[in-house]
Amino acid sequence: MLDSLMGGNRYILETRELVKRFGGLTAVNNVNLRVERNKITMLMGPNGAGKSTFVNVCTGVLKPDGGRVIFNGRDITGYPPHEVYRLGFVRTFQIPEPFMGLTVLENVLVALKNSGEHPLKAPLKMLWIKDERKNIERAFHILSSVGLDDQWDSVASSLGAGQLKMLEVARALATNAKLIALDEPIGGTDPKYAGDILSYVRNLLSKWDVTFLLIEHRIDIALPYADYVYVMDRGSIIAEGLPDEVANDPKVIEVYIGE
Ligand SMILES: Nc1ncnc2c1ncn2[C@@H]1O[C@H](COP(=O)(O)OP(=O)(O)OP(=O)(O)O)[C@@H](O)[C@H]1O
Ligand SMILES: [Mg+2]
Repeated sequence: MLDSLMGGNRYILETRELVKRFGGLTAVNNVNLRVERNKITMLMGPNGAGKSTFVNVCTGVLKPDGGRVIFNGRDITGYPPHEVYRLGFVRTFQIPEPFMGLTVLENVLVALKNSGEHPLKAPLKMLWIKDERKNIERAFHILSSVGLDDQWDSVASSLGAGQLKMLEVARALATNAKLIALDEPIGGTDPKYAGDILSYVRNLLSKWDVTFLLIEHRIDIALPYADYVYVMDRGSIIAEGLPDEVANDPKVIEVYIGE
């Protein structure tokens, strides 16, 4: 009991024996994973390992077939996605989905208006947003911490893949997210910008009370930015530890060579 209370404090997310099956395929197989507060925890593994499915089950997009999900000391197993989101656990999808016709600033303002409100009402409030100086200041503060303040007036559709990812992060911050799951944030970006994205994520930890679960396929680029790493293969966690422990683990090397 005491242990689980202490764990609830140190770890913002904890899964216990989490299972998800698709017919005869066990995509998530008894996964025990913990995400420490104000850190970057990385979940890596090859294509089809079950990483996205794991996050989908944690965030309520999919119902688990077994096990528990504990978020911020609360059992959220089977909660619907909007409820998980409202509690402060936000996932960005592999393909970012901001409002493409709105500017960068407007996208963040909509998310700010959105926290605790019905999402459909938010765009209407854009009409009187001029008066809301505070929100605009807050939006700029958020945009500068993800390196998009210079782009505030750009239409979202004009951003590159990496900048769209950062806009997703900005929007998550605007909703007061406590835990942000980033599914392949550097997917589709060139390696040079990939490092920048991960540096911004790293720097956010010192400015915001936020925690990241980073889902990543590319081990070489992402590993140096993680505090703790889990490696998944065919639904199971096959290794966990500090980045250099995991990088030198023969089981991990085998999985990546086998790819
Ligand atoms: N909705 C679904 N219905 C049936 N099978 C699915 C479904 N979603 C995922 N799968 C299967 O579950 C397994 C895990 O897929 P998942 O997308 O979670 O892997 P991943 O680790 O995110 O891979 P990637 O690196 O390619 O994103 C794969 O074999 C996949 O084909
Ligand atoms: Mg995936």
